[in-house]
Amino acid sequence: MKIAMVGSGYVGLVSGACFADFGHDVVCIDKDQSKIDRLHDGIMPIYEPGLDALVESNVKAGRLSFTTSLAEGIKGASAIFIAVGTPSRRGDGHADLSFVYAVAKEVGESLSNDAVIVTKSTVPVGTGDEVERIIKDSGAAHRFAVVSNPEFLREGAAIGDFKRPDRIVIGAEDDFGRDVMSEVYRPLFLNESPILFTSRRTSELIKYAANAFLATKITFINEMADLCEKVGANVQDVSRGIGMDNRIGSKFLHAGPGYGGSCFPKDTLALLKTAEDYDSPTRIVEAVVAVNDSRKRAMGRKVLEALGGADAARGKKAALLGLTFKPNTDDMRDSPAIAVAQTLTDAGVEVAAYDPEGMEQAQPLMPEVTMCDDPYAAIEGADATVIVTEWDAFRALDLERVKTLANAPVLVDLRNIYTPDDVRARGFTYESIGRV
Ligand code: UGA
Repeated sequence: MKIAMVGSGYVGLVSGACFADFGHDVVCIDKDQSKIDRLHDGIMPIYEPGLDALVESNVKAGRLSFTTSLAEGIKGASAIFIAVGTPSRRGDGHADLSFVYAVAKEVGESLSNDAVIVTKSTVPVGTGDEVERIIKDSGAAHRFAVVSNPEFLREGAAIGDFKRPDRIVIGAEDDFGRDVMSEVYRPLFLNESPILFTSRRTSELIKYAANAFLATKITFINEMADLCEKVGANVQDVSRGIGMDNRIGSKFLHAGPGYGGSCFPKDTLALLKTAEDYDSPTRIVEAVVAVNDSRKRAMGRKVLEALGGADAARGKKAALLGLTFKPNTDDMRDSPAIAVAQTLTDAGVEVAAYDPEGMEQAQPLMPEVTMCDDPYAAIEGADATVIVTEWDAFRALDLERVKTLANAPVLVDLRNIYTPDDVRARGFTYESIGRV
């Protein structure tokens, strides 16, 4: 089956490469000529473990190609995926659908065979109806159906998530849409991955509900962590204690500096907008957004405390280890590190940082921070060493070396990757999240 993927960003490229690996014939399309040129040269536009090898082997096998021409790329495709960005619209938090609608119009004008148009971009409820209207109005002369098929890929684990999904959600309104999508996902169906067929609007809402629920779970445990610090309890044990209840589940219960990334912050805001538009408030999600926003700067204040309080901290130095919103990505979008660095520099603290992949993206967001070549260079002369992102490289720091290099043996672990007793036994002052 021939598949066209319009948009060769994170979602489009990972999905396209995985579909090709399943044996489909895939064309990835993008307007950005330099991105397509680099892909032809085997250079990935994003950092995602395993993606370069997957792309290379499928290009070699003749199943994956790239083009800037939408009309060429969709020729003969039975499924045309729309996988372009839906950023938060400046000012009101609504998802900006202009890229999705522009693609829909072009697809409608260029359609040269019967095809199913699949929205993979995260789009608010009702977008599929509008995409259908646009394609109809653009004079499409062939049979088409518009289907919703949200993605549930985590950055850093996207290929595994695509190939071994917990579920596939397909929102279709007719048999044509359902039949073509069954064929698209047949290789996964054979792997017994559960497929949920539902209506288009339901499928669109499932995506937002899933991300909002996960953001709620994280925010819930983060507030429990704060309470643990006050009452002298241990949040990791609270997580285990509640997570072992199958009704709750143990995943996404790691307390930390607050969620970031390209999805949770944007999608929770967009869900609030939809709820407002339909006059159906979602107060829990409202609280999650507010609590998470204030948490990020609160983490900066936690570091100031470890430096002896806001007054004493002025002129001292902090080393930030990890800047990306999570490990195994170079993505800095809404990373808690931005607010932590800002709070520190606002308070007159000198900040040095190291991140294995994110420093290039981070530097413009935190111009006052000095980026270093390795963690120990950042730690040199620091009055507090702060783990902001749990990259594997920070899980086994040479603590004796840290003690020698740093100005003071103070470790602030915002991801709870060390054991308090161990670190304290080595002579450190140790602060973490929700553990005393
Ligand atoms: C998230 C979802 O997990 C994916 O299922 C979804 O497809 C994707 O958004 C999307 O909508 O495209 P992602 O943003 O890549 O994926 O990252 P996550 O692994 O979900 O982490 C999000 C944030 O939550 C990170 O800042 C992470 O540090 C934080 N987090 C996660 C915690 O603080 N605690 C946890 O227990 C888990």
